[in-house]
Amino acid sequence: MPEVVRLDAPLGARIEGLERSQALSTDVAALLDRALADHLLVVIPGAPMTPEQTRDLSLAFGEPRPQLLRRKRANDVPEVSLMVSTLMTDGTTDKTVYRAEDWHTDDSYFEIPAKATLLHSIEIPGRGGATWFCNMHSVYDALPEATRRHIEGRRAIHGYDTPRARSRPAPRSPQETAETPDVEHPLVRTHPVTGRKGLYLNPNRLDRIVGLPRAESDALLDELTEEARKPKHHHGHVWRKGDVVVWDNRATMHRVVNDYPENEPRIMHRVLLKGERPV
Ligand code: OGA
Ligand code: MN
Repeated sequence: MPEVVRLDAPLGARIEGLERSQALSTDVAALLDRALADHLLVVIPGAPMTPEQTRDLSLAFGEPRPQLLRRKRANDVPEVSLMVSTLMTDGTTDKTVYRAEDWHTDDSYFEIPAKATLLHSIEIPGRGGATWFCNMHSVYDALPEATRRHIEGRRAIHGYDTPRARSRPAPRSPQETAETPDVEHPLVRTHPVTGRKGLYLNPNRLDRIVGLPRAESDALLDELTEEARKPKHHHGHVWRKGDVVVWDNRATMHRVVNDYPENEPRIMHRVLLKGERPV
């Protein structure tokens, strides 16, 4: 059996001794999926794979589902998206790169957000471009008791776009818009596997807290986000070509640091895994 080695960090584990093609045996898949819930981030080193192999590995963590933006889907394997985050000097840099510079959790604008995201590096720049992760259980635990009481049971509106986002998202097609009305989620989420509570925040998509005047909602969201921005909750993953990194969107946020050289390819395969309604 592969070994789950906890990182010396607020979250994350590295999987050692895994033959990726054996990840779908029942025992190994259960070990990987449990490691995800316990450590919120798992890193599986190895060589670059085909989109088919990436999709197959993702099955260890659940059910892959095609992501919203059609133009990013890999042609033959719709569950795998091709994410090009190369910084282009000719102005053609994909907008998602700038969006991902701020802390976020993937897919929170859906009623049923993705449980986890799998990212697999195909090409990485010579330096920089780390992806940082934030443990939202530890953020919740660090809040003052009075704040935790104040937010208990409160709900918040997430949307594809909000004026609160530091960088606004790419336009949707009419079909994509119809598929993404605003949704409401609890502000405090209970992890369905471990039962731990976590703050369910997304500065990129979170518009307002239900039942509070806008100014009060903005101030509270800012206060909560401030705790999440503290480095004591964070771990940065420095990519090696071929890494597979899976993060648990139910209890983490992540961001990319756009500090890598221009015109050096940064190309990833990405799979979103079907989740459950946040409670
Ligand atoms: C993502 C994302 C960050 C990165 O794929 O959801 O935020 O480092 N990626 O590419
Ligand atoms: Mn993301």
